[in-house]
Amino acid sequence: MNNDSPYRQAAAKLPVYFASVLRKRRALLFAVLFAITIFFLFSPFSPDIAGSYGKHSSSSPSFGAVKNHDVNDILRFIDPLIGTTNGGHVFPGATLPYGMAKAVADTASPAENAAGFVSDDNPITGFSHMHDSGTGGQPSLGNFPLFVHPGCVDDDYTKCDFSLSDRPLNRVPDSVYASPGYFTVNITNGVKAEMTTTHHSVLYRFSFPGTEAVRFAKGVAPYSPLILVDLVDLMNSRSRGNIKVDPETGRIVGDGRYGPSFGSGHYHAYFCADFKGAKIRKTGTFESNKATDEKQLLEGVGWGSAGAWIQFEKPDEEMKDSILARVGVSFMSVDKACENAEREMEDWDFERVERDAREAIIRGKTRCGIRASRTLTRKSGNQERGNRKMLTSSRFYCIWDSFRAQHPLLTVIDPKAQTEMIRALIDIYRHEGKLPDCRMSFCKGYTQGGSNADVVIADAFVKGLTADIDWKTAYEAVLSDAEIEPRNWGLSGRGNLVSWHDRGYIPQNDVDTNGTGPASRSISRGVEYAYNDFCISLLSQDSSSSSSSSYRPNISTPWTSLTADITKYHHRGANWRNYWNPSAKDLFRDDRTTSSYIIQSPFVGFLQPRTLAGTFRYHPTRTCSPIQNQHSCYYDTALDVYEGSPWLYSFFAPQSMSTLIQLMGGSDTFVKRLEYYHESGIAYMGNEQSFLTVFQFHYAGRPGLSSKWLRNYIPTMFNASVNGIPGNDDCAMGAFTTWGMGLGVFPVAGQDAYLIVPPFFREVKVRAGMDLKSSSPSRDYHSEKKEAKWAVIRTVNFDAEMQGRNGGKPVYIQSAKLNGKKYTKNWITHEFFEQGGLLELVVGPEESIGKDGWGTNREDLPPSYYEDEKFWEEWERMDRERTERWKEEEKAKEEGNEVDDGY
Ligand SMILES: *[C@@H]1O[C@H](CO)[C@@H](O)[C@H](O)[C@H]1NC(C)=O
Ligand SMILES: *[C@@H]1O[C@H](CO)[C@@H](O)[C@H](O)[C@H]1NC(C)=O
Ligand SMILES: *[C@@H]1O[C@H](CO)[C@@H](O)[C@H](O)[C@H]1NC(C)=O
Ligand SMILES: *[C@@H]1O[C@H](CO)[C@@H](O)[C@H](O)[C@H]1NC(C)=O
Repeated sequence: MNNDSPYRQAAAKLPVYFASVLRKRRALLFAVLFAITIFFLFSPFSPDIAGSYGKHSSSSPSFGAVKNHDVNDILRFIDPLIGTTNGGHVFPGATLPYGMAKAVADTASPAENAAGFVSDDNPITGFSHMHDSGTGGQPSLGNFPLFVHPGCVDDDYTKCDFSLSDRPLNRVPDSVYASPGYFTVNITNGVKAEMTTTHHSVLYRFSFPGTEAVRFAKGVAPYSPLILVDLVDLMNSRSRGNIKVDPETGRIVGDGRYGPSFGSGHYHAYFCADFKGAKIRKTGTFESNKATDEKQLLEGVGWGSAGAWIQFEKPDEEMKDSILARVGVSFMSVDKACENAEREMEDWDFERVERDAREAIIRGKTRCGIRASRTLTRKSGNQERGNRKMLTSSRFYCIWDSFRAQHPLLTVIDPKAQTEMIRALIDIYRHEGKLPDCRMSFCKGYTQGGSNADVVIADAFVKGLTADIDWKTAYEAVLSDAEIEPRNWGLSGRGNLVSWHDRGYIPQNDVDTNGTGPASRSISRGVEYAYNDFCISLLSQDSSSSSSSSYRPNISTPWTSLTADITKYHHRGANWRNYWNPSAKDLFRDDRTTSSYIIQSPFVGFLQPRTLAGTFRYHPTRTCSPIQNQHSCYYDTALDVYEGSPWLYSFFAPQSMSTLIQLMGGSDTFVKRLEYYHESGIAYMGNEQSFLTVFQFHYAGRPGLSSKWLRNYIPTMFNASVNGIPGNDDCAMGAFTTWGMGLGVFPVAGQDAYLIVPPFFREVKVRAGMDLKSSSPSRDYHSEKKEAKWAVIRTVNFDAEMQGRNGGKPVYIQSAKLNGKKYTKNWITHEFFEQGGLLELVVGPEESIGKDGWGTNREDLPPSYYEDEKFWEEWERMDRERTERWKEEEKAKEEGNEVDDGY
């Protein structure tokens, strides 16, 4: 999703080891070391990145503290600030992989601060402990921010600013620094804020100038720090809250009821804050900007700023002018929040916590996550309801955004986490009756298109993730998506199912009496429903019936007695074609001229909306692309496409590319059309549906062109600057880059196929196999155990110049070997990542084309599952018949209406 976007977890992991980084630095201009959401780009030739590292490292006292690990060094390639402006909405603060606590300074940046902090000039409103990274829509979480004053004017606490509207202060220029597990910024009242985290707790260190007083415009404030906690959240959604400060111990606890950022309902959050380093002078509460030291408790306070505060003496001698604040968070209770903080940060040792965070990130050993709810089920222990572990507390944010690149990436680099997420999906189905599409803060989020959890489940199935996955229930869950329409399909499942089943498309003028939801997006929902159904057909096949070379788990699949399912869903998987209007023209006005003439591109045939009568209506082909009304099709708008044009959606038939290519006029025309799409400005890389279009040249026997466009978009659209992510990161943008640059393959989500492109590195290796039984919660990627298996991708004829900052020279695969044997297919299966192996790619400056070219022949192309000509003959016959019938029916209805009107 772009505007209304999904999630990303700051999960910095380094399972992918880029040998070339260490072996030959000159060899690259960019290196991507990716984390689930933090993706780190680094350029040894780039003074801005390399230089800023050096500078900041000395200004951060704790940075140098971590020296005991060579591989630690690798963390300097990470710049968490990438994508923190220009709509990236990346969370750059301190966190652990899958950590629930995510601390950062929040900025008052309208429409940009979805993750709290933005690299712009807006003032800082506070420091808060939980965020979602990369999302669109309303800002997420950001509950219970702290704010710090070095003192109050005239030493009168009522003269300090308390409310959200009064307290914001600018950041000191160039004082922002972020590194894995650490974030710091100075605000203009002289306070330096640093933060680091454990799983559910944040440790802040607030440092003061140390002078006897600070001079403000309003007067002089003697040195006597005041720290406040506000019950607000980033989207100001609180409907109820309580807060209490203990004047003796200084402990502040509280809770509130808040709204989710892209969904319905509400959630509760709790915190527990303790302070260390200075004696307490006064405590109290505030509502709006009115503070009092008489009330130590606020109960049931509604919307807006309200909270508690403590004013301290000067910090103790040994604290060197700083005060520590330790904040535990919980979604269960205040007690849990306190317990979390006490357990995880008993020692109050900032350097130790930061060091542990960095080690956790390096080793990828941390396994505590909110994405699949492990945070609560594992760490807090008692999120169990009923007899079995309840995993429904997970946050997926929006699967619409993450199913294409992010979930498949986890399957390769963290199969254990992906397995748990599959289990969480199944548990959510079990407890709530439907798989989620979007889910945040324990609430249902809005469904943007299809029921794409079906794709995530099929993807796991075909790639053999089996551990403790209840496939029978998983199958039941996807069937529920396909067959049973929920009352509100805006929040889960699918809509217009009666028509979908009867007609094979969503009529633009459908009458849906089974459920409600935004009755729009008939094309984009339709192509996704078709793909979802195709994925169900894959799930309907067990390992024994699998004829393809695909790797499949050897599990018994009792539901496959339902062979009818395979046929049914395979058929529905072809429904995208019901939207194909072979005579739809690409009509547009050329903005570069003032002429009002409507002109036409040479490309004919597009997916178009269809009526109940089976006839097509014209939907402008370019609408919702960057060159025509880009912002006209969001969740709550009425068009037939979602966040993308009919041009874009006309390419979405990953299950049936050979048919699509034929419909578009054959390989040559298809290639021209796809190139035109990328050249003309219709393509928008800031949203996930565009990812696969970069690689679809593979299906037309021109894998070189996929490489060409990938190397165009990285770096013109994806690069190492703060604006270097073209749209809401959604976890997905970073994943796209990791696939394209790092791994040299791109997944066709839901299928066992990865399309091969030359990576940007001399050699890349990923730990193969799953090792799900190991006692360590995840694989130890950095132990070079003898028995470790690796999937190695090696570039032969690697040339540093190829990886230029501005796209460098073109690079094309000339030939390939898999485990020493000639390999001409332009795709591989998951077996490579599961079993390990060596994929050698010989590259050169010219595209390898023609009969002897690499990956160009029919037998080299990725799978298309609808190549049976008889299938399509039958399909066309049925389509003709049905269309005739509908026309008659509609005609009869209209005539009937005229009579009934009684005029
Ligand atoms: C940040 O604040 C601290 C504490 O007041 C101060 O020592 C430091 O010099 C400041 N740094 C910058 C870049 O202003
Ligand atoms: C639609 O509603 C009807 C009547 O309640 C029900 O019989 C049918 O199964 C529903 N169809 C779907 C696809 O949910
Ligand atoms: C699959 O597993 C079953 C029993 O678990 C075994 O009998 C069978 O040989 C296995 N099939 C393959 C192809 O490995
Ligand atoms: C980096 O990416 C951003 C976002 O896509 C883009 O606006 C910018 O022009 C790119 N910078 C370079 C140097 O290519």
